[in-house]
Amino acid sequence: MLGQLDRHLNNQAKIPEKTSVLFYKPIDGFFVNTHLLWPNRRVTTTPCGQQHVNNSEQLLFACWRVAQKRLAFPSQYHTFSIRLSVLQFPRLSIMQKSFQVGTKTFVLDQDKAEAAFAAKKVINGRDSMTFNLLPLKYQWAYELYRTMKANHWEPEDVPMGKDIEQWRDDRVVSDQERWIIRMGIGYFSAAEGIVGDNIQHVIRELVTAPELKLVLGRHAHEENIHADSLLYMISSLGINPHECEAMFEDVETIVKKNEFVTRISKGLRRDLDLTDPDNKKLFAKNMFTFGQCMEGTQFYGLFGMILSLYRQNKFPGIGQMFRYTLRDESNHIELLRNLFMDLVEENREIWTEEFKEDLRATMAEGVQLEKDFIKDCLPVNAVGLVLEDFLIYIDYIADRRLEGCGLAPLNPGITNPLPWLAEMMDIKKEQNFFEGRVTEYQKSSALESVDDDDL
Ligand SMILES: [Fe+2]
Ligand SMILES: [Fe+2]
Repeated sequence: MLGQLDRHLNNQAKIPEKTSVLFYKPIDGFFVNTHLLWPNRRVTTTPCGQQHVNNSEQLLFACWRVAQKRLAFPSQYHTFSIRLSVLQFPRLSIMQKSFQVGTKTFVLDQDKAEAAFAAKKVINGRDSMTFNLLPLKYQWAYELYRTMKANHWEPEDVPMGKDIEQWRDDRVVSDQERWIIRMGIGYFSAAEGIVGDNIQHVIRELVTAPELKLVLGRHAHEENIHADSLLYMISSLGINPHECEAMFEDVETIVKKNEFVTRISKGLRRDLDLTDPDNKKLFAKNMFTFGQCMEGTQFYGLFGMILSLYRQNKFPGIGQMFRYTLRDESNHIELLRNLFMDLVEENREIWTEEFKEDLRATMAEGVQLEKDFIKDCLPVNAVGLVLEDFLIYIDYIADRRLEGCGLAPLNPGITNPLPWLAEMMDIKKEQNFFEGRVTEYQKSSALESVDDDDL
């Protein structure tokens, strides 16, 4: 079978030189969900929507077509892999239409059910108070929801004893290193809440398909966990809570980063007319700004610095919490990217050259704000922390986000100056990473699905 697949693939244009395929459970007639992985990128796609495939070959073809369509496989990528998982729901076509129970007969209207399914959309879908997840149209959303809940963690499960000891000891940590932690806490303690608020009151309100609302609800909850983890760090280290609030208001680069996102959130509350193409663009831009510019790029400067300290065995509890957070963020980036791509797919009229340039300009502004912020985080180089590396890293990560959404990079050909960060994210390699109560939350599938491709 794989030999045949290779032959078929090699007949296509822009074929990678090396193709590896991992089938989990290719089962005839079952719905499939696909994760496409290749350097620096992970994209979850549902090949051919709600269609069925009858064998592994069709399955792979479907994945391949989606990948080509979505990302046009930039020629520099020569290796990729396709991970398939199969959701075990029966075919739509075998719906039972009538049930005889005793003397009563219940008849179900298949046409009506199928019409309701066809009316599922990202926006302007069927207006209903019901929350019927099945049949799933956006398979990726449900799959991601399952991954996210399997990654559940609680801040109190992470020991902070060593961090407290180090925080108080001038022989172990410097003022510069403490400043990075303060900036991390000052920025993220508010930023997590801003993201959660936008997910809950803008994006989740405006999308219409229940499975999208389901995964967005989980997203909002994870932002609460992240905000709670910062509270736990602040109280453990004995930082005055007023100091944290003041940093948010008084550090100019933090204020500017937050204004950058809140301005596109305020105007998009309930009752927005989403049949208007300008409003559709605003909504798509909101998803892009929060998912790709903020969570996908502006979070990464400090993530990198804190994980660099963690790598030097400084602040192990904080570093561990940021690793959990970063793993969650990679799912949030993927969620908002898929949502954005599906919104564009269903509303092609908004995908104009002008709109694409607007999104690129938004990313460029976000990058500049992040660079100014990084300079405030690292006024002087510390051990293992070189300002220039972090500035280039932001350019690098921003381009990955743009390309992931089918947009041209701002700095073509730029390379990653901090390759070790990807290793830091690869949680699955550590056998003993989950200890104590966290293990109880962990489902067997969760560790399998973690990867660092979003770094
Ligand atoms: Fe978060
Ligand atoms: Fe997030």
